Amino acid sequence: MKTITIRRPDDWHLHLRDGAVLEGVIGDTSRHFARAIIMPNLVPPVVTTADAQAYRQRIMAALPQGHRFEPLMTLYLTETTSADDVEEGKRSGLISAVKLYPAGATTNSHGGVRDLDKVMPVLERMAAIGLPLCVHGEVTTPEVDIFDREAVFIETVLDPLRRRLPDLKVTMEHVTTKDGIDYIKAADRNLAGTITTHHLIINRNAILVGGIRPHYYCLPVAKREHHRLALRAAATSGDGRFFLGTDSAPHVDELKECGCGCAGIYTSLNTMSCLAHVFEQENALDRLEAFASLNGPSWYGLAPNEETITLSRQQEPVQFPARRDTAAGPVTVFDPMFPLHWTVLDK
Ligand code: DOR
Ligand code: ZN
Repeated sequence: MKTITIRRPDDWHLHLRDGAVLEGVIGDTSRHFARAIIMPNLVPPVVTTADAQAYRQRIMAALPQGHRFEPLMTLYLTETTSADDVEEGKRSGLISAVKLYPAGATTNSHGGVRDLDKVMPVLERMAAIGLPLCVHGEVTTPEVDIFDREAVFIETVLDPLRRRLPDLKVTMEHVTTKDGIDYIKAADRNLAGTITTHHLIINRNAILVGGIRPHYYCLPVAKREHHRLALRAAATSGDGRFFLGTDSAPHVDELKECGCGCAGIYTSLNTMSCLAHVFEQENALDRLEAFASLNGPSWYGLAPNEETITLSRQQEPVQFPARRDTAAGPVTVFDPMFPLHWTVLDK
């Protein structure tokens, strides 16, 4: 039996939601992951340190018995965010990052930022105190094609921002293009990128060929194959600037399978199996630990986890449930469209 033991992984970009969905999904993350950066795009969003404190308590209350898990809280940046509140959140140890959603870019982002000038005082404070900015890197200008939104964001928003504030630490979330990978590689400091599991596996054909497949629709939308290959090369390279952020984003099926379906792919349940498959295909199983367990903590200034997990390769395909049932309805689990043979062994 082939096995691999790595430090317990962390998820540096995760949507846990609230209420019944939170209760239904959190165990899929806490079973394998020790920590996760928790996205703040609830309705209403997590805007203040007090909001984050209350949300953290709801997350801890939803945690299954016996699971140990540390939610790393973020604040949703708005044009009225207070720099003092952000600083207090960081100093108290509660807040690990602030999230920039360009207004209208994705799920629950209408309260996001329209004019970067308005948030400069907050960003300057973050640069001064060393608090990272997590960025949803897509422009929302209607004239820009949805497949070009990341590349245009880098050129017209991210690069000017980084020149203006070189001391600001920026995490470019869910990179989906070769442009993004190249941009991160070219930076000399203060820039890193998370990569999702699903963007290592699907290209845009998965969404559109043979019919519309809403469970492969997310934002940023999957791109052409050559972009996927660039993501795979970066993720499996061991380069410390790239690490796992699953962007696992549960929506109940009814909200995805309809005339205007939500963006988001639910991968928490089988992410580690999918990643082991990808890294094995790339002859890089020895670098899975860097991607999933070492590079992220190092970027966020935290120690890697002391505990380990062991993955084993089974002869027969491993069966995963097609859906995670929650009290709000079923949530379809990401189907990589190939059999999975890797499984995380129970301790
Ligand atoms: O696909 C996505 N789903 N992308 C995002 O940026 C947000 C997320 C969500 O919250 O559903
Ligand atoms: Zn996300």
